[in-house]
Amino acid sequence: MKSALAALLVAVLVVPSVYGKDDYHGLPPAGAAAQGAAKITVCAACHGVNGIGVTPAHPNLAGQNYNYLLKELENFRSGARTSSIMSGMAMTIPPSPANANLRDIAAYFSKLRPMWAYAPAPGAPAASPDEIALGKVIYERGIAGEDIPSCAACHGLAGEGNEPMAIPALAGQHAPYLVAQLVRFASGKRSNSPGHVMHTIARAMTAAQDTAVAAYLQQLNPDTTLGIGPKDFTEYASGLERKSAAEGGTGPGGVRASAHAAAAPKVH
Ligand code: HEC
Ligand code: HEC
Repeated sequence: MKSALAALLVAVLVVPSVYGKDDYHGLPPAGAAAQGAAKITVCAACHGVNGIGVTPAHPNLAGQNYNYLLKELENFRSGARTSSIMSGMAMTIPPSPANANLRDIAAYFSKLRPMWAYAPAPGAPAASPDEIALGKVIYERGIAGEDIPSCAACHGLAGEGNEPMAIPALAGQHAPYLVAQLVRFASGKRSNSPGHVMHTIARAMTAAQDTAVAAYLQQLNPDTTLGIGPKDFTEYASGLERKSAAEGGTGPGGVRASAHAAAAPKVH
């Protein structure tokens, strides 16, 4: 645990250097999540009312951190992040003073029962124990000599993300979506990570490593692995409360689609 804490400390001390102060949006305004519930009708068609993507290509948003969601929505609107679907979708959100609509929507999804409570999400492609084991090594330690750093140093010991630094949670995310993003980072089609940190990392990874780390992440639940409730943001978010874990959705062992390979061709 000591070394884990040390790694966390290093991440907290070292990582901020690549972040602009504009990346931290503070906490969601009071009542924002409730306001957001009325503004996600269009979004729910693909991301689900419960924030679980309707197919593995549609990212889960449930429990994702507020700062990251808000940053991505702003990036889709400004063109800093492009997607044939989301670039248009983000423009359907009516402009509002101080981005109130974006804040409400980000707050809504951030407060849902988190995606990792479903891990693996419905429709998750089957993964072999060997893949998951390799993914765990890459995630926690990186691969020395291959320029692949520990993902955990930034994304959290168990994939819970980092709210103040707008680093996304990856635990319980759809594996095919994660692989697709690594491929987009590597090719430069997605170029909105601070300091292009993810571009450098994704370029160092092979398609097999992408698939392994995604296989590990899709079944990871920080609540049970470490007992660190990532949504227990008591230090800096008193008043935020997670929706009851009893609400909605399939739990572990829920519906899974037939097995198919998630490997995507790597475009460098
Ligand atoms: C037609 C389907 C569709 C609709 C409707 C849709 N999205 Fe998306 N969304 C996607 C897809 C596909 C992606 C992945 C884009 C990519 O590949 O980068 C995505 C990505 C996102 C992301 C980034 C997630 C991450 O982990 O980085 C956010 C945030 C998001 N959508 C929010 C919304 C919101 C808010 C709305 C409603 C205004 C919405 N989406 C409507 C399909 C959709
Ligand atoms: C130095 C910090 C850092 C390290 C180390 C790091 N990441 Fe990231 N990662 C980020 C940040 C910051 C983002 C958000 C980019 C943005 O602002 O859109 C991100 C985004 C991602 C995304 C996109 C998630 C989504 O919802 O769209 C994936 C996938 C990802 N990282 C995987 C990894 C993997 C796998 C590793 C380890 C091999 C790793 N990252 C290591 C900082 C890091």
